[in-house]
Amino acid sequence: MFENINIVIGITGGIAAYKACSIISYLKNNGANVDVIMTENSTKFITPLTLETLSGNKVITNMFECPDYRDVHHISLATKADLFLIIPATANIIGKVANGIADDMLSTTIMATKAQVVFAPAMNNNMYENPIVQNNIERLKEYGYKFINPSIGHLACGYEAKGKLPKTAEIVKYLKKEKLL
Ligand SMILES: Cc1cc2nc3c(=O)[nH]c(=O)nc-3n(C[C@H](O)[C@H](O)[C@H](O)COP(=O)(O)O)c2cc1C
Repeated sequence: MFENINIVIGITGGIAAYKACSIISYLKNNGANVDVIMTENSTKFITPLTLETLSGNKVITNMFECPDYRDVHHISLATKADLFLIIPATANIIGKVANGIADDMLSTTIMATKAQVVFAPAMNNNMYENPIVQNNIERLKEYGYKFINPSIGHLACGYEAKGKLPKTAEIVKYLKKEKLL
């Protein structure tokens, strides 16, 4: 179904990181080529081994530990991407990209891509409602970045509120609606 589509998935350090397994499997099993970039913090939540196994590709975390420096990996991944998904997106990565910070493999590759980048924010509701986070989201939308709204539900912090990563089916539905898949 998604043959010939190169999708780069960025994983950041949120409690919903494990849920990225489901979307990676779905895209891969339906023919997409999936490359995964993890932030260092996300590896506290889920292992590169798991995502490497599910994606069938080497997972990149550290910009300075690339398999082969003849291929400048953040540029080749950025160029190869037809679609770039950040699932889940922390307040931190949203803030970094909104402010032009490129200090790790994920933020640098996002900076270098011309592919459509879609963020799926997931965080505590107070974090999500923080005007700084909302401002960063609005600023990124003005630049053409897209956002999948978090859903309302039981958050890991114990609250029943907006901040949950939507289910894989909802993420796929959004991507199809936007004609990105
Ligand atoms: C148990 C735990 C859960 C966390 N969950 C989230 C989360 O869901 N969303 C978020 O934005 N930050 C969350 N954080 C905070 C991030 O891990 C922190 O801001 C970190 O700097 C993010 O780094 P990264 O964006 O480079 O992955 C959590 C931290 C801990 C310890």
